Amino acid sequence: MSNNKNDVTMDKIVSLCKRRGFIFSGSEIYGGLANAWDYGPYGVELKNNIKQRWWRKFVLEREDMVGLDAAIIMNPETWKASGHLDNFSDPLVECKKCNSRFRSDELLRRAHLGKVQILPLDHELQRELLIKEKITCPICNSVSWSEPRQFNLMFKTFIGPAEKSSNIAYLRPETAQGIFVNFKNVMDTSRPKLPFGIGQIGKAFRNEITPGNFVFRTREFEQMEIEYFIAPPKKDKDWQAAFEMWRQEIINWMKELGLDVKHDIYELNVPDGERAHYSKKTIDFEYKFPFGQKELYGLVYRTDYDLKQHAEFSGADLSYTDDKGNKFTPHVIEPSLGVERTLLAALCAAYNEENLTQPHPSPGQGKIETRVVMKFPPWLAPVKIAVFPLLKNKPELVKKAKAVFDLLKKDYACEFDDNGNIGKRYRRQDEIGTPYCLTVDFDSLKNGDLTVRDRDTMKQERVKIEKLGEWFRGKLK
Ligand code: GAP
Repeated sequence: MSNNKNDVTMDKIVSLCKRRGFIFSGSEIYGGLANAWDYGPYGVELKNNIKQRWWRKFVLEREDMVGLDAAIIMNPETWKASGHLDNFSDPLVECKKCNSRFRSDELLRRAHLGKVQILPLDHELQRELLIKEKITCPICNSVSWSEPRQFNLMFKTFIGPAEKSSNIAYLRPETAQGIFVNFKNVMDTSRPKLPFGIGQIGKAFRNEITPGNFVFRTREFEQMEIEYFIAPPKKDKDWQAAFEMWRQEIINWMKELGLDVKHDIYELNVPDGERAHYSKKTIDFEYKFPFGQKELYGLVYRTDYDLKQHAEFSGADLSYTDDKGNKFTPHVIEPSLGVERTLLAALCAAYNEENLTQPHPSPGQGKIETRVVMKFPPWLAPVKIAVFPLLKNKPELVKKAKAVFDLLKKDYACEFDDNGNIGKRYRRQDEIGTPYCLTVDFDSLKNGDLTVRDRDTMKQERVKIEKLGEWFRGKLK
């Protein structure tokens, strides 16, 4: 048996996702839409498991957190106040030959100019380097670049039937602002004491210049964000303590997902000039994806920037009064996690190829077969238990297997499968990542037991049907 992490390629992940119904190209029957993806029957379960676990861990199980679900289209003033209208942009260059557009800082980064610090707003340096280093257009290979210009990433739309400038609205580019504009509502209704946080899961939209790498960078995605409010720090160590607490929480979360934090996660302390306009400190948690080490999550100290901006632009009182009567604007620590990047990292971490030697009477003569198995942590697996009758055409086996399925489906995500031979059914469930497969055979009819096969060890054991509930409670709950 062998397993090598380097075997994981994006081609293999994309093909497994399509083959097994995790992720499909968006609008496929119309030829697709570049960089849009639809989540199939197992993909949606994976996504739901991620979101539900996050919500349970960070909202329900903590006394210092509450939840929120704010609208995607917000009053456009929000984006003036937050600074997104002025600052939420990437440097864009156009190839003058073929008119393709790219992020100039990314073209330079891709050309291994990591030795030079490329600030997003330093357009002059970017153009100079593109020409001096003869960076070619990835589409037509020419070196003919326009002046970089800042391109705002927010999607614009119009409210109501008239497409006039006074009706312009934006799809939110981060869920965070929905939390800030509801700060007063939550304070007035929940009356939380500092420090406390508000968590939200929802869609965000960005008109990315260079989306790509499967679901890694898309124009429509989901975020799981927390704005954690703290008293204004007197010293750096005051905000650093909350920042460190959330850093540890993110590390624990990544471990729960099955990521190899020690080897596959790198914490990048984002330098001055490269951080978002609201950030005093940012850590990017980068994951070693098959296409390179890239940002998985962000942890940011946003200071009191957002609440102060919204207080100023809206006129609302967004302050907090403590038990001693001191009135102040809280500061904020923000752990921000993308759902799709979580899912992609979890897929890459779970992907395993094992070479199995088929049994053969002469030693060393057995055929070698590759087993693809998704070793998701059980809580994440889209199906927890698959139930098979040994043979499809034996009604008594099918009936018994259906009864087992009915027994377990109330507590666990179960699947009933009677298609093909048992070996094929195991392989299919291995690729879906199902931790346990149960087979009802002729002995089951006599003895009231069945075979439980473990996904990772492939070991099989007989368990009494009446004991299954208890057996799984220990393993899956
Ligand atoms: N509220 C802070 C914020 O939005 P960000 O670093 O721009 O910060 C946070 O985004 C997280 O959202 C990222 O770490 C990533 O997980 C996810 N994300 C951002 N842009 C994305 C995109 N275009 N496609 C998929 N996920 C994205």
